[in-house]
Amino acid sequence: MITIDNLLPAGFRESSLRSDVATGLTATPKWLPPKWFYDAEGSALFEKITELPEYYPTRAERAILRAASGQIAVASRAGTLVELGSGSSEKTRLLLDALLAGGTLLRYVPVDVSESALRAAGSAVDSEYPGLDVRGVVADFDAYLGLGASAPGSGASPGSGDGAGPRLVAFLGSTIGNMMPAERAVFLSRVRSALRPGDAFLLGTDLVKDPSVLIAAYDDPSGVTAAFNKNVLSVLNASLGADFVLDAFDHVAVWDAEAEWMEMRLRSAVAQRVRVPGAGLTVSFEAGEDIRTEVSAKFRRDGVAAELAAAGLEMRSWWTDAACRFGLSLSVPSDG
Ligand code: SAH
Ligand code: TRP
Repeated sequence: MITIDNLLPAGFRESSLRSDVATGLTATPKWLPPKWFYDAEGSALFEKITELPEYYPTRAERAILRAASGQIAVASRAGTLVELGSGSSEKTRLLLDALLAGGTLLRYVPVDVSESALRAAGSAVDSEYPGLDVRGVVADFDAYLGLGASAPGSGASPGSGDGAGPRLVAFLGSTIGNMMPAERAVFLSRVRSALRPGDAFLLGTDLVKDPSVLIAAYDDPSGVTAAFNKNVLSVLNASLGADFVLDAFDHVAVWDAEAEWMEMRLRSAVAQRVRVPGAGLTVSFEAGEDIRTEVSAKFRRDGVAAELAAAGLEMRSWWTDAACRFGLSLSVPSDG
């Protein structure tokens, strides 16, 4: 059985995007928040990224899940799996299989801002897992976590429990690395506050490694990552009537060794002015000027444990793939 609720406020893509664009494209340096990558085209391009030979995080995290899902099922005994930024839910099947084999799982609540990705993934999971109660939620996880205290006017929250046992909240794909450190702290505290005793939090984090491996993962020779990055400009064109010429920007991926993150940028190839009528703006670019479109932070085990602890979460287990490229942690609310 499947339901899909859309909790995005009316006009979300227009009004929330408008204010983000008005803030980010008038700042110095210019920036855009990452959630706007993911329209239908962006979600499809991201799936292509996950299949690139250079993009190791998806394969590494899948290998960890293959090895650890049984232990996660035993430790969590989850009746409800809530997944934030679920995308294609592809790796999630390993968790669903283990939780169903453990006999505890009743409900899967995928939460994603991309309605197209959520609908496709939700129906695929629904047909592959006939007994499972699939309750998809189209929402911005900056506003809604799918756990109790639901968004205004939305009625009962699908992840609130109502008899479906302890909850396991999964946040995979190192999507947490796309937040700035202060945003991560707020996000983890929100997760912690929404958890009840007995619930658990499963977090996927990409790890610090040789920069050449990282740069290849975010700047592939086939240009899929460049197309994904530039897609955010198509979203601005479609939703705000902007006139960005995609070819007038170059995809740039740099390793910031101090912050330990990859930074994705779009570099204006020429001096140009771009009209963004939906945000009431005309934006001027110098030749070589960048828009920062995303950071992708890389983590170390101790740092992940410390960030979790600061939010009131205690890391109980930590797994990596054989090559230590990616980390997966299982945490529970700390006492007090
Ligand atoms: N978990 C999947 C997808 C990762 S890509 C995997 O590991 O492969 C990041 C996903 O998070 C995308 O599906 C995107 O649509 C979603 N996303 C990004 N920002 C979001 C936000 N603010 N609220 C909800 N979903 C978001
Ligand atoms: N969450 C993904 C990551 O940080 C998102 C991503 C992959 C991405 N490739 C990208 C974002 C390229 C911008 C550009 O790995």
